[in-house]
Amino acid sequence: MVDFNMAEDQVPLEKSNGEQAPEPTGRPPTGRNGMEAEVLLQEISTFCRRHQMAETTFGRRAVNDGKFVGRLKYGGRVTTSTVERVRAFMTDASKAETNGDGAPQLQGFNSALTVSGGATPQPGPELTPEQNFRFYDNRQKYLMFVNTCSEKWVVADRITQELEHIRPNPPALRLFDAGVGDGTVLARVMRSMHRRFEKFPFYIVAKEISLEDVRLTLEKTPDRFFEHPATVLILTNLNYAEAPWLIPNNPEAAARIVWKEVALQGTTTAEFEQQITELQPFLAENWRASVSKKTGNPVYEKPVVLVLYREDCKFLLDSVIPKRGAIRADYDLVIASQPFRARAPVEFKAKRVLAPLVKSLAPGGRLLGIHSCGGDPALEIIQKVWPGEQPFTTSRHELLRATKNALGRAAHNFSFISNSDAKSLFRYDMHTLPNEIDQESSIGTSTLLAAWNAATYVAQIEDQRLAQVMSDQNYLTATKEVLSERGGLWFFDESYVISRKRDLH
Ligand SMILES: C[S@@+](CC[C@H](N)C(=O)[O-])C[C@H]1O[C@@H](n2cnc3c(N)ncnc32)[C@H](O)[C@@H]1O
Repeated sequence: MVDFNMAEDQVPLEKSNGEQAPEPTGRPPTGRNGMEAEVLLQEISTFCRRHQMAETTFGRRAVNDGKFVGRLKYGGRVTTSTVERVRAFMTDASKAETNGDGAPQLQGFNSALTVSGGATPQPGPELTPEQNFRFYDNRQKYLMFVNTCSEKWVVADRITQELEHIRPNPPALRLFDAGVGDGTVLARVMRSMHRRFEKFPFYIVAKEISLEDVRLTLEKTPDRFFEHPATVLILTNLNYAEAPWLIPNNPEAAARIVWKEVALQGTTTAEFEQQITELQPFLAENWRASVSKKTGNPVYEKPVVLVLYREDCKFLLDSVIPKRGAIRADYDLVIASQPFRARAPVEFKAKRVLAPLVKSLAPGGRLLGIHSCGGDPALEIIQKVWPGEQPFTTSRHELLRATKNALGRAAHNFSFISNSDAKSLFRYDMHTLPNEIDQESSIGTSTLLAAWNAATYVAQIEDQRLAQVMSDQNYLTATKEVLSERGGLWFFDESYVISRKRDLH
């Protein structure tokens, strides 16, 4: 019965009838068993993330087979009894933890691995999650969302509409992206800016606390430098109240700022890409974040400003390239797209994020704010599983009022534009195969999982609650019901504008 190339402690992925299961296919699981494996994999990765457990440790603890999860990922088939065993382990562990009776030793994850950007992970000192903050408690969900939904396209289109309203002054069009994320939105907006303002130099500052996101954003820039040579792109991990001015408010932090200027050599995207890739060690060394014990918010460990432009445009851009100590904000356009967590208090959103950003506007400058607002099938899925759940706590009207208050007397310099729902709300969709949603039976598991992932990502449901509901299939049934009732999955974002009045004199 035992396959000789299977090590002792490996759980034979045998069929329920005891027959030897075929070797892993290396392809994602398919068919009913494939479906089960895919769902189980999703549950295991959520569980491991929440318990900060390596998948090998999980395999060893759940089924005494360190390679279990790996094989499952590679198309290994799984017997129903093993599925039940794995689920029982996860349920017990979660129960043990919630009853606080000292959940069985679940540690064994070495967070240092996440820091060493691409280099072979070397076991390092045990870093607490606080010390080694990674934004978004899970990147898979974020990147899966970005790739399975059209939000970034639709958001970029909405931002592009603002280009019609700005009147940049020499020497450059000045744009600030308040939390660039993976850079998909910014890259699309830079393309639209090139089309609209081809002969204008660009001064673009993108704030981002997450190392992974900075990497993903930089990957999208070589073509931008090629198509629009007169570009100065600045990335910084400073916080919202500092980043527009590229200097920390705290003098001690300002004294230890890491300021790196890179004049890109050459004229081709390949040359730019190579030089940008060579920045990895610098980024891994300096772009670190941890969680503030006081606020629970991510904070940079070292203040960093990275300035990029083409060497062959240095002369042309001399008055655009920021000079330390002589930096002005004066942005024509500030993008504040999903810049804070939905459940953050309105005071935090207004005082700590929007008010400082608004003060960085040039006369005639505009801040465009965008956030999720619900009222869509995605929220229906959430409320089927968590009745009464309301993730989107702050409407654009409340946010504009709170920002006006936070600005105090300076508020009269600005216009607060909430627009009608028809103008403010916009929809984006989850990509599905044509007529896949027509009949309930034809909705594939990957579509169900993608829908569940997108709905819980947008509603920013914490892993702990996710793991609890993913120990049975109800969440998939709820997702399927909404998809077939509504004929697809879409979401609503709402937008608002705060513009700085032009100097009248
Ligand atoms: C979902 S991403 C949005 C990315 C991009 N603007 C977009 O619309 O695709 C959220 C962004 O907000 C930033 N962010 C959210 N909360 C933050 C906080 N408390 N402190 C610093 N940055 C935060 C993240 O770093 C990230 O860039």
